[in-house]
Amino acid sequence: MKPSPHASGKTLNLRAQVVKTLLAVQNGQSLQSVLAQHINIVSDKDRALYHELVLGCLRQWHALKQVTLPLLAKPLENEIVETCLYVGLYQLLCTRVAAHAAISETVEATKQLGMESLSGVVNAILRRATRESEQFYDVLENASNLPSWLAKRLKKDWGDQLAELSYELKQVAPLTLRVNTRQVSRDEYLDILEDEGIDAHRCEISDVGIVMDESLHIPSLPGFEAGGFSVQDEHAQICATLVPNLNGKLVIDACAAPGGKTAHILEMYQPKRLIALDQDEKRLKRVYENLERLMLNGKHVEIITADAVKWTAPEQADCIVLDAPCSAVGVIRRHPDIRLLRQSSDIAKTVVLQKQILENMWSQLKVGGTLLYVTCSILKAENEQQMVEFFATHADAQEVKIEADWGLEQIHGRQLLPSRGQGDGFYYCRMTKTA
Ligand SMILES: C[S@@+](CC[C@H](N)C(=O)[O-])C[C@H]1O[C@@H](n2cnc3c(N)ncnc32)[C@H](O)[C@@H]1O
Repeated sequence: MKPSPHASGKTLNLRAQVVKTLLAVQNGQSLQSVLAQHINIVSDKDRALYHELVLGCLRQWHALKQVTLPLLAKPLENEIVETCLYVGLYQLLCTRVAAHAAISETVEATKQLGMESLSGVVNAILRRATRESEQFYDVLENASNLPSWLAKRLKKDWGDQLAELSYELKQVAPLTLRVNTRQVSRDEYLDILEDEGIDAHRCEISDVGIVMDESLHIPSLPGFEAGGFSVQDEHAQICATLVPNLNGKLVIDACAAPGGKTAHILEMYQPKRLIALDQDEKRLKRVYENLERLMLNGKHVEIITADAVKWTAPEQADCIVLDAPCSAVGVIRRHPDIRLLRQSSDIAKTVVLQKQILENMWSQLKVGGTLLYVTCSILKAENEQQMVEFFATHADAQEVKIEADWGLEQIHGRQLLPSRGQGDGFYYCRMTKTA
């Protein structure tokens, strides 16, 4: 591991590394790609704290902004110093890091990042926040913690549920596994975990899901290499239970990467042919790796890089799973960078792309076949409204209602909202082709 030097040639401290990561996200890079570049310069002993500070600051971003504003005599208009303040305040208000360490390390980071002249301001604000912390806890507790465009949209879509929804969206999502029942039953796997002293419990909705009671290093869990389980959100695990029996059928997974839902379908059924399609070649590699590990690969599975807007199937399919590209607002708990990266203007573009993919995939479906439309969004434009428009313009499409005791029934389809200790925000709508 190579420590990261700053201008003077000295090694950057951990807080400065956290600030650099957060600056990269503010400049539009996804957290996943930044972490891939930055994590190697963080020493092994500091990695847990590095992750906690990066993820925690992103999770509380808008609330930290709200806390900071009244503490400033005038706007700083300096992204580096503002980010140092957020990192400092997060440590003081949301972690057990000792106040003196949080302040001195953050002030040092401000200097190391070339902002020596403003390090006194950072020091003074963090000291004041320590003295007056009570009032700031209330701000953190009550802040919607969402960008204003998203808060407005959610208010329009979910009205009175906004406060509860924004509270849920700032929680940490649980680590959830899907047991590969071709290898082991859920109860058998729970016994294996218990024998290893690992606490976990059954998911409520998914009958192959297990929620881990604490966060663990996944590859170290029993049976990982042998393909005994996958990591998958509970509400994502519902997908494969909503399709008809696919044994001997032709199935298209239209936006398949990294293959979570493809793998689950193959764990449950033996299709004649399954085509896993995605336009992102790098992500498709993960479909291949996942199926290999889970021992689900075979001649009947084809993994194809293609644009689902234009691609034509070799023959019409019995079933199409369309897990559409979306705003991913339903999975903000797992990807808190979405708060900063997603813009209001992205939504309309995404809705158009979803519509184009849906249009093309519909023409690849047999009469009598089933299409399952899925998103990990909670915005109605991508879900219910998308479907209202689809059914209004496709006389040959008929909804096959999902009768279930989970989620909220919509004009078309069912919506799951993120829920404490349970799954993320997902939307499902099932339909059949009648002519
Ligand atoms: C929600 S993710 C799919 C998750 C996947 N079904 C799973 O369960 O692991 C959406 C996928 O759509 C893909 N995608 C976006 N636009 C596409 C297009 N025009 N054609 C094909 N795939 C596309 C993205 O690369 C991304 O992998």
